[in-house]
Amino acid sequence: MTAPPTRLATPADFAAILRTWQEVGWVEWEGDRRGLETLIGASHTHVADLHGGAEGACMVQDGTLLHEDTELPIAVVGSISVSRVARRRGLGAALCAAGVAERAAAGSAVAFLGTFDQGFYDRLGFGSGPYVHEWTLDPADLRVDVPDRAPIRLGPQDSERMHRNRLARFRAHGAVSVMHAGVTRSEAAQTRRGFGLGYAAPSGELTHHVWMEANGEHGPYRAHWLAWRTPGELHELLGLIRSLGDQIHAVTVQDPAGIQLQDLINRPMHGYRTRKGGDYWQRPFSVAWWQARILDLPRCVAALRCPGPALRFGLELHDPLTTWLPEGSSWRGLDGGWTVELGEQSHATPGLARGLPVLRAGVAEFSRFWLGALSARALSATARFEAPESLLADLDRRVRLPSPHVDWEL
Ligand SMILES: CC(C)(COP(=O)(O)OP(=O)(O)OC[C@H]1O[C@@H](n2cnc3c(N)ncnc32)[C@H](O)[C@@H]1OP(=O)(O)O)[C@@H](O)C(=O)NCCC(=O)NCCS
Repeated sequence: MTAPPTRLATPADFAAILRTWQEVGWVEWEGDRRGLETLIGASHTHVADLHGGAEGACMVQDGTLLHEDTELPIAVVGSISVSRVARRRGLGAALCAAGVAERAAAGSAVAFLGTFDQGFYDRLGFGSGPYVHEWTLDPADLRVDVPDRAPIRLGPQDSERMHRNRLARFRAHGAVSVMHAGVTRSEAAQTRRGFGLGYAAPSGELTHHVWMEANGEHGPYRAHWLAWRTPGELHELLGLIRSLGDQIHAVTVQDPAGIQLQDLINRPMHGYRTRKGGDYWQRPFSVAWWQARILDLPRCVAALRCPGPALRFGLELHDPLTTWLPEGSSWRGLDGGWTVELGEQSHATPGLARGLPVLRAGVAEFSRFWLGALSARALSATARFEAPESLLADLDRRVRLPSPHVDWEL
């Protein structure tokens, strides 16, 4: 299929985008509408036309990725929607490709997105991150102290300072931040029964806070994000969640960056067994819900610092996104042969040098390896990642990364 044409959205497209969002169930109340308006202002928006009007839209935001200690510019595909009359005509794939290609040409090194399911974005070279863990827990079972000092109450009107606090939060390898404050404003507007609790410095600037979604008299509540800079601040936020435990019987919280939440739950297995199947069932849940792909291979490889003697190999990359590229895109994808050297300083250069062992991989799989989501050996067992056994072993010896933790709802 050739890629259907796309174009940048104009303000005149708002009504059509709103209609599509209503059709896909993303606009159910006034907060969703406000959230969409705000999000468009924070995004590079592409649309695809059918019968003379926009019937599909893709919004991409600029962000950063912390890859070990290297900060990389990224594109975050925040949403893709195609209306009921335009499905299965390639609009979704073309919009995603157009949005990503435009940001790649502007300097984004990687693209990230949250998936509705596995498979669709694989066709565009996106590969899954590792499992993301969350717990639905009884706040009363949290093994942290309730803070002595009372928090301040936060609402959508505090979005700007909540956003600054999110950007300044503790970040581990893999942390994603979306730069435009409109993204936090949009998320806060769309959270029905949303509320925040936190602490501020004398300047009024937030030091740490949690943004939650309430639900009925007894929960379950959901913590959408926690922004903190030190373990002490994290304990204080969890202590605030615990303070709700006399009334609220369940709160869903994602593992904070680098932390195993289960360590802080009293008798987690007891809660799991005794509340099984109930509204307040205490349980963990894991799924790999985000995907990413490399856009700028030389820049991404340069972020790898691998002690020891240099490892050189040929890389034959398959990039399925090239099929969907818009005509005239200056960024052409990563398909083809590369020569890679991993060492204290790492490089990727176009063209396959002769006489080197060769890794044949999809962009999705190489991106997963580069992020530290899975080892070379694991990828070779289940995905398009083929190399001589000795090269697989060398890759795993040289590239030792912690599991990436995006710590941002994409
Ligand atoms: C997802 C969505 C944007 C796709 O739009 P679309 O224009 O119909 O998509 P395309 O025509 O480009 O692609 C459809 C193809 O993807 C395939 N596909 C869809 N989901 C898939 C999956 N999980 N795994 C593999 N293939 C999948 C379809 O089978 C179809 O294949 P075909 O081309 O061989 O017939 C559209 O269904 C939508 O708006 N859904 C609701 C909103 C949503 O969930 N958006 C994504 C947010 S992350």
